[in-house]
Amino acid sequence: MSVQKRIWLTGASSGIGQAIAAQLAAKGHLLAVSARRAEPLQALAERFPGQILVLPVDMTDVEAVQQVGQRITQAWGALDWAILNAGTCEYVDVANFESAMFQRVMQANVQGTVQCIEAALPLLRKGIQPRLVGVGSSVTFCPLPRAAAYGASKAAIRYLFQSLELDLAQWNIGVTLVSPGFVETPLTAANDFPMPMQVSSDEAAAIIIKGMHQGKREISFPGPFIAVLKLMGRLPNWLRFALTKGMARPTSNKEAS
Ligand SMILES: NC(=O)c1ccc[n+]([C@@H]2O[C@H](COP(=O)([O-])OP(=O)(O)OC[C@H]3O[C@@H](n4cnc5c(N)ncnc54)[C@H](OP(=O)(O)O)[C@@H]3O)[C@@H](O)[C@H]2O)c1
Repeated sequence: MSVQKRIWLTGASSGIGQAIAAQLAAKGHLLAVSARRAEPLQALAERFPGQILVLPVDMTDVEAVQQVGQRITQAWGALDWAILNAGTCEYVDVANFESAMFQRVMQANVQGTVQCIEAALPLLRKGIQPRLVGVGSSVTFCPLPRAAAYGASKAAIRYLFQSLELDLAQWNIGVTLVSPGFVETPLTAANDFPMPMQVSSDEAAAIIIKGMHQGKREISFPGPFIAVLKLMGRLPNWLRFALTKGMARPTSNKEAS
């Protein structure tokens, strides 16, 4: 086993986060796991007795997130890795453009993550080879239809982590930005468009963990999908429109009526 790490992982109740939690715990690491739903976190604790600190929280609640930080301080006094993976996705219906939806997505993905960073930083400063990890998205490599809110939130995550990397270097806190392509999770199960080169949660978790151990600054996968997205971002508009047509939403009922 690699040296046992003290890790805070958000979004551990399902999908990519749940798979990361199981793989890291199986290697003997100590994990503080967060998400709103306590039951799946509790199930992890029962599967890996003595290794899991169950810390349910809504990351949009700043005081509750601070209390999570205090609980980790009491338990371990430090963090070696903080993996801020929790996030949500909602799609834009442009015929019924709704600012409240943007607020929900930004509040969770951006402000929620920032609040977790606030709680994690003092602990990471006391950690061993500390690393702050943020989960963005490959959507930041190429604007896609209906993804204005989600994509904007993940573009914010990209800038946030890349900028913080410069500031945190003085304390030797490494920063990793994860940009997954399509991963099979409850979040993508609702998607009604093709999801090429989709990988399983377990595959995604293994790639992310390997990259973190290697101290990678950026982990994007799967490689061929990322290459296609980056290329698409540079295509002439007519071709980009043609290629993304399958993801666009037909005129909504409300608009048609
Ligand atoms: N799946 C993909 O294809 C894909 C691609 C690119 C990026 N990502 C990113 O990867 C991350 C994980 O996504 P996933 O696909 O694994 O989705 P998922 O299965 O829906 O998991 C999302 C996790 O975030 C937690 N969460 C959501 N809102 C929260 C809140 N307000 N407070 C605390 N926890 C909250 C959820 O737990 P509760 O519901 O229990 O709170 C859940 O554990 C997200 O940041 C997502 O944007 C996913």
